[in-house]
Parts: sequence; C-alpha cells; structure tokens
Amino acid sequence: MSDATLDLSRRLNDHYAAPDSAGSGLVARLRDAFRQAGQDPERLSLDAVAGIDQLHLGGRTASRSLATLGGVSPGERVLDVGCGTGGASRLLAAEYGATVTGVDITTAFVEVAGWLSAATGFDERTRFLCTDAAAVPLPDGSVDVVWCQHALMNMPQVPRVLAEWRRLLVPGGRVLLHEVVAGDNAEPLALPVPWARSEATSHLRRRESLERCLVLAGFAAEQVRDVTEAALAWRQSRSDRERGAAPAAAQNLPGPALLFGDDFPLMGRNLRDNLAAGKVRILEGVWQRR
Ligand SMILES: C[S@@+](CC[C@H](N)C(=O)[O-])C[C@H]1O[C@@H](n2cnc3c(N)ncnc32)[C@H](O)[C@@H]1O
Repeated sequence: MSDATLDLSRRLNDHYAAPDSAGSGLVARLRDAFRQAGQDPERLSLDAVAGIDQLHLGGRTASRSLATLGGVSPGERVLDVGCGTGGASRLLAAEYGATVTGVDITTAFVEVAGWLSAATGFDERTRFLCTDAAAVPLPDGSVDVVWCQHALMNMPQVPRVLAEWRRLLVPGGRVLLHEVVAGDNAEPLALPVPWARSEATSHLRRRESLERCLVLAGFAAEQVRDVTEAALAWRQSRSDRERGAAPAAAQNLPGPALLFGDDFPLMGRNLRDNLAAGKVRILEGVWQRR
C-alpha cells in the first residue's frame, strides 16, 4: 500500500467506527446494543438492522429506487463499492436476487457487514473485503454491476477508482451511482457531516466534474437525475425524529449514533442545512461501460 493510501485509510478508519473510550470494537458494541434491545445478535431481521446498515440519504427507499432505475436482475454479480456495513449488498441479494461483493476501506465496517450478513441469513449471497476501491482484488471483467452509494465523496482519487470499475466490469456492464456532489453555493460546508468532520476527508466534486470523469473513464450516461429535494425531505424528517419531535419507528434498536458517535444528530442537521443552502446536491444515475 502506498503512503497516500495508508493515510487515506487511517483518516477514514478514524472517522468511521473509531473504538469507544473503553477501547471496545464496533461489533462488540453493536452486539451488546442488540442484546439490550431484546434481540439475539446472531439472528436478526433486515428490518432490525436497518438503523445501522443504510448509511446514505433515503435509506432502503433510495437503494430500491437506484436498483429499479438500473434494472438489477437475479443472478447478476454486483460490486458494492464503499459498502459500509453492507445494507445495500443485502438488499440487492434479498430483493433483486443479486450476488454481491462489498468492498470498504474501514476495517470495522467490513467486520460488521460480515456479521450482519451471517445474522440475517445472507452470508451465501454476500461477501465483504477490506480494500481500497482503487485496488480491488478481483479479476478483470468479473462483475455485471458496480454499485456505489455515498462513497465517492470520501475518495480523493476518483479517476483511479473509475479506471478500476472499467477493468472489473464486463463489456456493457453498468455503474449505478447515488452520490453527494458539490452544489452551486461554494461557501464552506457546515461541519461535521456524516462523511467528514473536517475538509480533510471530504472530496466533493461538482456534478459536471463527476460526469466528465465518468465519460473520460469510458462510461456513457443512460439516465441521471437530481434527487436533492427528496433527500432533503427525508433528512428533515430524520432530524425531527432525532430531536424527539416525531415518533421513532424503532426507538430501542441500534441506530447510526453507535457508528458515527454522539454528534450524529448534529451531522444530520448540518447535512440538512447544507442541502437546503445549495452547498451539496444528490444525484442518482446509471452509466454503461463502453
Ligand atoms: C457514508 S459511508 C456509505 C456506506 C454505504 N455505501 C451505505 O450507503 O450504506 C461511505 C463509505 O465509503 C467507504 N470508503 C471511503 N473511501 C473508500 C475507499 N477509497 N475505498 C473503499 N471504501 C471507501 C467508507 O469507509 C465508508 O464505509
């Protein structure tokens, strides 16, 4: 691993899923939290884990929207890039019949992803590797679909990552993206946000820049749409819930604060404000490998 990749890995591992002050690992903390909620941590439903495995705006609704837009079909081999704790990987296996490999640079997230897939009964249809998205240890032409939700904004080396996607995809394979991009308002972001506590881990690109990178990497746009308004409405409803102004769906089940820390509600409010101020926008789209 190069020094730059090691540095990136260290920053992201510090940001996501850092050990608590007692030094206990994320899987141990989450197992305890499920036990306290009256759940067996080795036998969980996809509903029970949704609070900790959908680390993007819109939750499972947004993932279903993208999967439908991109026509994910039974038997397709999907690479879930920046898979986090593996929620989209399991959704694509459970609801769309895909076989999914998730890759992520955050070691603790990969451990959680493997445990949650075993606990929910999806360990034969999903697997997870801890690796940098720019160097995925899979053969050329071994995936039908590259799936990426809310992860490119953490990646400083997007052209290298897109070149890797082109190598991994079969001819005619698709890239399905649901991403955060920079908006027209160039004022500094309100920080922290869920993907960064400082500018050091935030690598937002404008939509035009991302689209140009995709074309240069050998991908043709099929459908691209701006879904900022829906994302803002969703984030607002979550912030209402987090401050107790709206009923929680599953109050005692583990939620994102266990991954992101106690300042998660502040991250959520800042993201809402950045969306409302036009500092960030949300895109979803499908590109085809030329
Ligand atoms: C906001 S989370 C989204 C996780 C997941 N896609 C989801 O929507 O639930 C961003 C993820 O991207 C991962 N990530 C960022 N840069 C990466 C890189 N260069 N290689 C692999 N994973 C990366 C982070 O570790 C983190 O898990």
